[in-house]
Amino acid sequence: MSSSPHTKFKNPRAKFNFQGRTCSITGVGSYVPSKVLTNADLARMVDTSDEWITTRTGIKERRLAAKTEFTSDLATQAAQRAMHKAGITASQIDLIIVATITPDMPFPSTACLVQQKIGAHRAAAFDLEAACSGFIYALEIAQQFIMSRTYDTVLVVGAEKLSSIVDWEDRNTCVLFGDGAGAAVLQNRANAHGLLTAVMGADGQKADLLFMPGGGSRCPASADSVASRLHYLRMEGKETFKNAVQAMHTAAEEALRRCEIDISRIKCIIPHQANRRIIDAVAERLGATPEQMFVNLHKYGNTSAASVAIALDEAVTSGRVHRGDLILLIVFGAGLTWGAAVIEW
Ligand code: ACO
Repeated sequence: MSSSPHTKFKNPRAKFNFQGRTCSITGVGSYVPSKVLTNADLARMVDTSDEWITTRTGIKERRLAAKTEFTSDLATQAAQRAMHKAGITASQIDLIIVATITPDMPFPSTACLVQQKIGAHRAAAFDLEAACSGFIYALEIAQQFIMSRTYDTVLVVGAEKLSSIVDWEDRNTCVLFGDGAGAAVLQNRANAHGLLTAVMGADGQKADLLFMPGGGSRCPASADSVASRLHYLRMEGKETFKNAVQAMHTAAEEALRRCEIDISRIKCIIPHQANRRIIDAVAERLGATPEQMFVNLHKYGNTSAASVAIALDEAVTSGRVHRGDLILLIVFGAGLTWGAAVIEW
């Protein structure tokens, strides 16, 4: 099953006689707001403690966007950094996909607002909603456009201002989330494989484990909906936890199986940063070493669609991965949704 670390291996997509061109992530970038909210700060807001949050989640602090800073602003900062790393101008971008559950407004899409802010006037733009799994979903869609030769340059952003939908009076959820954005530029690059495979899954039967009841067509905003606190996210923590471990493990195994490699071939595993105990449980089931796992949730908490995007940028920027290394992204979120992608960096 496993081969030598230096073996160039076959793109699993080739098994299906896929004739498309290769795709690569040519630049990554991230941005987090400057305001830090520590566990000690939260202990002054709700009945909690640094000790509880640290031992139950691993989170020490998170970032909060300013009142006048919106998801599109966070996304724009991350996008510009990724574009700089990729060495591209805005006019080269053919398509922008923004994964988010906290768009600036229900419409127009946050992607359209980013398109304006970065000046990518040629680009098509749309938002993608797959909660915390959105970045992998968006990467895979972007890669399809490149492989099919429909587009040459696609900008993918995961961006969230979760502080705008967190109930700051609910200690069960308010300690978990933060704001931020991460971005990637995808282009054709000779001899590169990009996402070797992307496993994506969903289970709408469990939609009520994690959701925001108000603000949509089912329950439009009204004085009642506001008074009943329906415009905040709600989560069944324990059930979500169990489902996260199971789905992330299964998706990761499936991605490895498709690539015909074992976990030891992966240089860096970047799991969704929701809870340290979820990450540890997934690592144990996969047989991964602590050195393989990339963890930054102590600094940012759960930033949903931005989570693995920020972590990918930090892993690359800090020198944890180099060109040719294999990266395993694993995500899980509301929907339920999940995914895993093996990336040849
Ligand atoms: N401070 C102190 N006590 C707390 C806090 C807090 N912040 N929050 C909950 N508690 C209490 C509870 O009230 C409960 O008290 P009780 O026993 O008297 O009722 C006790 O701590 C234990 O609560 P549990 O919910 O059983 O704690 P658990 O160990 O399950 O941890 C947590 C809760 C952190 C939410 C965990 O379940 C979790 O991380 N779940 C998964 C989250 C996740 O993965 N989300 C991913 C998707 S997010 C997205 O898509 C946007």
